[in-house]
Amino acid sequence: MSGLVLIGAQWGDEGKGKITNYLAERADMVVRFQGGANAGHTVAVGDRTVVFHLLPSGISRPRATCVIGPGVVLDPLGLVAEIDTVSAQGIAVGRNLLVDVGAHLVLPYHKAVEAAEEAARGAGAIGTTHRGIGPAYADRCTREGIRAGELARFDRFRELFEQNAARRNELLVKFHGAPPVDVAAELARLEAAAARIAPHLADTPPLVRSALSEGKKVLFEGAQGSLLDVAFGTYPFVTSSHTTAAGVAAGAGVPPSAAGDVVGVAKAYTTRVGAGPFPTEAEGPAAELIRERGAERGATTGRPRRCGWFDAVAVRHSAELSGMGRIVLTKLDVLDAFERIPVCVAYEIDGRRVERFPRSTDDVARARPIFEDAPGWKRSTRDARATRDLPAAALEYVRRIERLCGVPVAAVSVGAAAHAIVEFQSTLP
Ligand code: IMO
Ligand code: MG
Repeated sequence: MSGLVLIGAQWGDEGKGKITNYLAERADMVVRFQGGANAGHTVAVGDRTVVFHLLPSGISRPRATCVIGPGVVLDPLGLVAEIDTVSAQGIAVGRNLLVDVGAHLVLPYHKAVEAAEEAARGAGAIGTTHRGIGPAYADRCTREGIRAGELARFDRFRELFEQNAARRNELLVKFHGAPPVDVAAELARLEAAAARIAPHLADTPPLVRSALSEGKKVLFEGAQGSLLDVAFGTYPFVTSSHTTAAGVAAGAGVPPSAAGDVVGVAKAYTTRVGAGPFPTEAEGPAAELIRERGAERGATTGRPRRCGWFDAVAVRHSAELSGMGRIVLTKLDVLDAFERIPVCVAYEIDGRRVERFPRSTDDVARARPIFEDAPGWKRSTRDARATRDLPAAALEYVRRIERLCGVPVAAVSVGAAAHAIVEFQSTLP
């Protein structure tokens, strides 16, 4: 199987960008299939740190063709700004980037509507990234969306944009009392962006399918995490796309049987940004220490991330949903400082022991974690590059996670540097 699916096993920010970039060294194609610029994929390229939002994390590997697939919602202004930012950092974006004609566009009115709606939710806000993701996917479902292909026919785009913007402006002004979107000014910016994006437009699914059938190495790069999936996450505190492996077929236009093995990326602990239940959330000095050692601040919004312990109930749920055959465990080095490391093995809900992640978000919110303490190792793992370099207690921690999740750990990541990885199996393609 020449495809490989890489997805987040928690609430996002698991280190998917770093692992994608690592594997992209051996890949012919890297495909984003869902989400949009809500993603923040931090990658070390040489001695620089680059954050990708819409661009696939393989873009710094000149050999790999990078695809923004039809399941992605694409902010044209954001994409052009991102191309300029990474170009200034020495990463060339040329014919190696393909943008699918069917990707739905995130437009300025989507962001304005999202900001107004989040404000109106008050204390019940979801804590979105304000990248217009929800409203853009909503327009796709209600068949009012505008797709990337229209950027190449700007007169048609202008017509659709003016129609949609007029309706959204009415909503913004009359219902939310918010300022309207400046249609003429936005159209001028969008026309300039369209000219830059047009040369990248392509009908990408046939290209991805051909690459797969020719045996080329195709990496499907997930964004967000399984517990933010619109169907199986902690609804309504989720994103608006399918973040599980199921998203690949619909989001890239490939048969499910062709997508390939699924690798879940999970942190050795847990974080979450935005609102919503988080059973293993830590408080006080422990949370602070994780946040400081793990630099746990949102790569997209700069918000401090909520930090807590590894939750095997949640990761088991993610693994089952996507059929994860392997896990890559990231940021193990962040735990180097701890004497004892709590690991959540089950939940207690209303006095009952629960092993399965509840479908009811209220139940998740009431769940009390049942922890087992794993012994820490109190030694730096940052320089480890082979199994023998890892302290016995760190290896035992990894084995415990494998047992609890029922999935083998193929590799651990021990630092931000591109090659700070210990591979346990030489089966990562
Ligand atoms: P990466 O790809 C972590 C969260 C937001 C919010 C919820 C909905 O870097 O892992 P949205 O803007 O998508 O409508 O927000 O989802 N969220 C993420 N959390 N990592 C991400 O991406 C996220 N993308 C969205 O914080 O709780
Ligand atoms: Mg992120």
